[in-house]
Amino acid sequence: MENIPVVGLGTWKASPGEVADAVKVAINLGYRHFDCAYLYHNESEVGMGINAKIQEGVVKREDLFVVSKPGEKDVPLDFNGMVIPSNTSFLDTWEAMEELVIEGLVKHLGVSNFNHEQLEKLLNKPGLRYKPITNQIECHPYLTQKNLIDFCHRRNVSVTAYRPLGGSRQGVDLMDDLVVQKIAKKHRKSCAQILIRFQIQRNVIVIPKSVTPSRIRENIQVFDFKLTEKDMEELLSLNKNLRLATFPSTENHKDYPFHIKY
Ligand SMILES: NC(=O)c1ccc[n+]([C@@H]2O[C@H](COP(=O)([O-])OP(=O)(O)OC[C@H]3O[C@@H](n4cnc5c(N)ncnc54)[C@H](OP(=O)(O)O)[C@@H]3O)[C@@H](O)[C@H]2O)c1
Repeated sequence: MENIPVVGLGTWKASPGEVADAVKVAINLGYRHFDCAYLYHNESEVGMGINAKIQEGVVKREDLFVVSKPGEKDVPLDFNGMVIPSNTSFLDTWEAMEELVIEGLVKHLGVSNFNHEQLEKLLNKPGLRYKPITNQIECHPYLTQKNLIDFCHRRNVSVTAYRPLGGSRQGVDLMDDLVVQKIAKKHRKSCAQILIRFQIQRNVIVIPKSVTPSRIRENIQVFDFKLTEKDMEELLSLNKNLRLATFPSTENHKDYPFHIKY
């Protein structure tokens, strides 16, 4: 599988006024993976943060893995990392994406919110020139995604966990969970660090979002401890198939991915 930096910085809801500084802080702390999207309306500010650090000589562009998700009609020509199509009319979109690789404008292709049938269809597409290197999906202990992760890994497609901390608290706070708190206390780590480490130990890439420097730091300090098998089992047993990102306005679309189990 492609070598994607295992912890990346999410940028959804990072306002244009704060995200460039967050990206600079993150690069200083060792982040090399940034998750963006046209729809987050902050891509140019993310780019400003990246460019500032390149100009300072802290990183080179080729050290960075920058992910973008184009809008329906948008093609992100200024990004030279990986692009992920939304899953509307994805087979047609895929050919347009492949052209970007051929033209040298992006290095890799990925998908997001694909269920296993959609991924299978894409992988079996006649004449497929580039396969997706990752499927970016919501994943955390309340939505462990075991079946889909197993399926992706069997097909040599990595998985990237979005909303790994449960997002910005929509009545569900993974960090209030007593099991997560107990494990955090035992390892003398924060709940966020446990939730991030949980993904890493499942061989899943993880993209927590923060614009707060202390949290950006905390979220990448996850390589100096290991969850035990029992910790992992306890975290996995929290699963309740609770999907936080349901995209209700697209529920009637023919490619809506969440009507089937996984
Ligand atoms: N492909 C898709 O459809 C899709 C959908 C959703 C998200 N995503 C991507 O995945 C990324 C992550 O998901 P998300 O932003 O929805 O949720 P998330 O990363 O699970 O949670 C972000 C929230 O947690 C807070 N936070 C971060 N670190 C923390 C810490 N150490 N302690 C306590 N709170 C902390 C952040 O606050 P502050 O920022 O205020 O610190 C923010 O409110 C997104 O930013 C986006 O890039 C993709």
